[in-house]
Amino acid sequence: MTIGIIGSGNVGRALGQLFSHVGEQVIISHRHGVASLAPVIAEMRSTVEAGTVADAAKQDIVVLAVPFNALPELPTSVDPKTIIIDATNYYPSRDGDQPALAAHQVTSSELVAKHFGTKKVVKAFNTIAMTKIRSLAKPSQPAGRIAIPIAGDDNAAKQTVTTLIKRIGFDVVDLGSLSDSYPAQADGPLFLFAGDADQVRAQVQH
Ligand SMILES: NC(=O)c1ccc[n+]([C@@H]2O[C@H](COP(=O)([O-])OP(=O)(O)OC[C@H]3O[C@@H](n4cnc5c(N)ncnc54)[C@H](OP(=O)(O)O)[C@@H]3O)[C@@H](O)[C@H]2O)c1
Repeated sequence: MTIGIIGSGNVGRALGQLFSHVGEQVIISHRHGVASLAPVIAEMRSTVEAGTVADAAKQDIVVLAVPFNALPELPTSVDPKTIIIDATNYYPSRDGDQPALAAHQVTSSELVAKHFGTKKVVKAFNTIAMTKIRSLAKPSQPAGRIAIPIAGDDNAAKQTVTTLIKRIGFDVVDLGSLSDSYPAQADGPLFLFAGDADQVRAQVQH
């Protein structure tokens, strides 16, 4: 299984490091040339390579680590087997007014799935601060793990993402389908909430 990461900022770098620490093959990308990723690659283990956005989008799992407003600029053609992890958040102040999102008529991850024309989108990692994620990961300690909320419309894709999240040292709480992912959005009760699985489930009710 290979992982492509689109975006090499806080999220792209933190997840690239966590994935490479458990031996995953990763291609990380951003808008600029591949050579400009040299300082990013230098922080990572040897299983991480620099690539173009098109290279990253061809991998088995593609992590979106870009501002939500970059969505229209991303490729739309991915292999039907590709799983997309949506780590983005929609912030009106950064990403512009989108009345349907503000009115909770649709979740931001449903718009991501619509853009890529696939059901294999799993929302994950968007609630956790990247300044903390590396210190919260417990890859060799199954007890007392922080839980990452996920949501998605394809159960097999969610299972694959669950396995990956557990490998890097977190538990998982499945919120349901993408249309159930409001609690994990930037205006929801799980945003920046760090707790174990029971605490995350309780927080959803807040
Ligand atoms: N920071 C956090 O703790 C955190 C936690 C969870 C989720 N998130 C969410 O995750 C996303 C990324 O956050 P971040 O903090 O990593 O942002 P960031 O540090 O600003 O990095 C964004 C990255 O996206 C790239 N990018 C922008 N537009 C692109 C495009 N059209 N094609 C390819 N790459 C593009 C940027 O590349 P350039 O350098 O070329 O512009 C940059 O590498 C956001 O939606 C954010 O809300 C953030």
